[in-house]
Amino acid sequence: MLKNLLVKTRDARWMWDLFGPIYNRQIYNALFELYEHIAEEINQDGSSQILDVGAGRGYITLLLAARRPTASLTGVDFSATQVRAAERLRKRRWIDNCRFELGNAMHLPFADNRFDAVVTVGSIKHWPDPQQGIAEIHRVLAPGQWAVISETDREASEEDLRRFMQRFTAWFFWDPLLFWGLRHIIFDHSFSQQEIVSFAQTAGFRDVRTEKLATSPYVIVKAQK
Ligand SMILES: C[S@@+](CC[C@H](N)C(=O)[O-])C[C@H]1O[C@@H](n2cnc3c(N)ncnc32)[C@H](O)[C@@H]1O
Repeated sequence: MLKNLLVKTRDARWMWDLFGPIYNRQIYNALFELYEHIAEEINQDGSSQILDVGAGRGYITLLLAARRPTASLTGVDFSATQVRAAERLRKRRWIDNCRFELGNAMHLPFADNRFDAVVTVGSIKHWPDPQQGIAEIHRVLAPGQWAVISETDREASEEDLRRFMQRFTAWFFWDPLLFWGLRHIIFDHSFSQQEIVSFAQTAGFRDVRTEKLATSPYVIVKAQK
């Protein structure tokens, strides 16, 4: 009962509007290897259009924009606070081949076949219908192109979670509570590698591959339309 309420809260837009900045401050240190790895996976030619769904503060969007000055990046998020935070970071880094806008993963505000690559990191577990969101990613991706879908691994071990936890540094995190929250509210209500593969296959992706990094308890699924 309490867990269900906390999971609902975790996924609510108002939660991201209010507490997104706390998440943003903590997560870069915890996930920078994953962002780096995915940025390398999205190996597009210079003129490509790349979309990040549930972009948050835009860490991976801005990394890709900085690495590929001739590409055009779009980050969408359903939280206005997150879109503003990403936009501020973009300006601070003087990056101008990137834009952030409000948008819901359930109905992406883009035409069919519009993008040459789509990424989403840590967002699908928050969507009311991840299958629909992944079908939306498939719809906006051009034929033959790749999407990278990464999410907290529901099957992560206790040891993985304890190692991950050490990367969070805020003074108000009390270890037993942080571990409980990560295990029961975040990871247990996420997806396994097989579930994400199955979402991608059902959405119509034809080549679906998986990866894991030793440093992040996240599933990485790479899928070609
Ligand atoms: C865990 S954060 C990940 C942010 C970013 N991708 C990162 O790795 O730092 C999840 C993000 O997904 C966004 N989000 C949740 N549900 C969404 C939806 N239905 N449509 C678009 N964005 C959503 C939240 O506002 C939040 O910024």
